[in-house]
Amino acid sequence: MKTAVFSTKPYDREFLEQANETKGQELIFLESRLTQHTIKLAEGFESICVFVNDQLNAAVLIGLKKVGVKHIALRCAGYNHVDLASADELGLVVTRVPAYSPYAVAEHAIALILSLNRKTYWAHSRVRDGNYSLDGLLGFDLHGKTVGIVGTGKIGQCLAEALHGFGCKLLGVDQYENERCKELGLNYVPFKDMLEQADIISLHCPLMPETHHMIDNEAVARMKPGVMIINTSRGGLIDTKAVTDGLKSSKIGYMGLDVYEEEDEIFFEDKTFEMRLDDAFARLTTFPNVLITGHQAYFTREALTRISESTLANLAEFEQSETLTNRVSAAQS
Ligand code: NAI
Repeated sequence: MKTAVFSTKPYDREFLEQANETKGQELIFLESRLTQHTIKLAEGFESICVFVNDQLNAAVLIGLKKVGVKHIALRCAGYNHVDLASADELGLVVTRVPAYSPYAVAEHAIALILSLNRKTYWAHSRVRDGNYSLDGLLGFDLHGKTVGIVGTGKIGQCLAEALHGFGCKLLGVDQYENERCKELGLNYVPFKDMLEQADIISLHCPLMPETHHMIDNEAVARMKPGVMIINTSRGGLIDTKAVTDGLKSSKIGYMGLDVYEEEDEIFFEDKTFEMRLDDAFARLTTFPNVLITGHQAYFTREALTRISESTLANLAEFEQSETLTNRVSAAQS
């Protein structure tokens, strides 16, 4: 079966081709992102494969249906960017990769926490410049600090395991209690209590209407002064204006982001010589206590291998009209 693979980077191609060696799918790699303007590229393909910043709103889905697409294979876990209700109505099948490496994302959250605390990104450039002064590099012991984990699913659990190893006290926010997290000593508390008690807050829940801007002015006001906020989940969980104000007033002491609410126009591309059009994002990059990475938390060899294998399995199941193990629909979410 022929599949158009949108938003292809060289690494996507490498890992998908490797996984396809024994599968025999016909993959047509396209560099273009899927938007209203690139729907035409999907003409003649029953299946398309897309990533996190491809657009899958109602208008794009209608366009895809018109050019003959029947199956959208997401090569990611999150599906907040897909209008699932419209997909269901149009009879478009959507599949995803539910789990590929929770370790990759949890380990990246740890990297952000440690780098922000010990300011290794500053220290590195200072030493390269011959400046061995320690002024401004003072950190804190992670041991004994209270970390609030919002969303104790697969990634939240991996983070809890790692932080348990560091000797942190763990607070969890989730409507479903994770037994392994409880064994690690994690205490489930209401969101508001977690905001008031945590030294570090790390977000690991999906972006949905009810979680959109869960970190807003009110939430920041409840936090401990000097709190560290980590977001490796989805940008829309945080109201950028609220955290910018919190950073300006020093209420927020550190912020580590791998995602940003308007990232689809910024991330995954080299914008070195382009004027930054997003002022809110540009402002965030000026804070010395903000560390931003461009949606790379998932980016490990192991994760890319599993994403590719799982995507090819989803394509094969669709082609052979088998039960779709990894189907997502509005009805079930
Ligand atoms: P998961 O489904 O295993 O866990 C999510 C947890 O969040 C569940 O336990 C759920 O009950 C909980 N949850 C839902 N609503 C909540 C709320 N209002 N408050 C607190 N908890 C709530 O998902 P997984 O695999 O752990 O992934 C979490 C998120 O990480 C994904 O939704 C995705 O957005 C993000 N992600 C980011 C990546 C990156 O590269 N930066 C890569 C992969 C995932």
